[in-house]
Amino acid sequence: MAAESQGEHLWGAIYGGSAMTDRLPPAELGKRAAALRALEFVEDGMKLGLGTGSTAKWFVELLAERMETEGLRVTGVPTSTRTRDLAAALGIPLTSLDEAGALDLTVDGADEFDGDLNLIKGGGGALLQEKIVATASAQMVVITDPSKEVAALGGFPLPVEVVRFGSGTTMRLIGEELARHDVASRAMTLRHGEDAPYLSDEGHYIVDLDLSRIGNPPALNAALNPIPGVVETGLFCGIASAVVVGEPGGTARVIGPGA
Ligand code: A5P
Repeated sequence: MAAESQGEHLWGAIYGGSAMTDRLPPAELGKRAAALRALEFVEDGMKLGLGTGSTAKWFVELLAERMETEGLRVTGVPTSTRTRDLAAALGIPLTSLDEAGALDLTVDGADEFDGDLNLIKGGGGALLQEKIVATASAQMVVITDPSKEVAALGGFPLPVEVVRFGSGTTMRLIGEELARHDVASRAMTLRHGEDAPYLSDEGHYIVDLDLSRIGNPPALNAALNPIPGVVETGLFCGIASAVVVGEPGGTARVIGPGA
């Protein structure tokens, strides 16, 4: 699984300054380009949802830089403890979602997106807070690279957050629901950490569904969510307003209404 790297952006730490971009690996250059383009959606005084993942990390870093160099003022609502720690370390003013109320914009990564701007998210395990924050935002701008663009979702395993109690039963009910839907395979795995099941920031398990192809993402999302042990799925349907694709050459293109 292409789980996000939460390690330092060593390239920045090592190379620093403007010459740094010349020496970035192409994949990182693309992620940085997407984050840079997404900054154009940010206006002074906005309340911003801050996503999680290696691409969102670029956005948080570049946002902090812009705040310092240009005096941009924003308040951030992080979608994970990792992002909260990073943003706080960089001096971005933070608040809780409940304190902020409605947000102006969320900028976050994705594991896959399709032509309808449906997303799979949660490879990094933060899907629940990410979905709560994104749906509380007037706009969600997704920052990605070309590898995330697919004709049909499902090549990336779909994360589903489930409560720990009765998780085996919940997985069985998920399997029964999958049998009624247009998916190309139905394998599922309880996500593991080093020596125990992975726990989300909210203390839940994550089940990764290897579906190969999801025929109707909104229908599957609507079918899985009512299962009592399911907390939320990593299918984001009708939530993203635009997707920014950062190319390895360092350019970025925007997909979505008004692009
Ligand atoms: C975090 O839980 C995920 O939803 C990430 O947004 C997603 O995995 C994208 O991460 P990368 O930008 O690291 O690919």
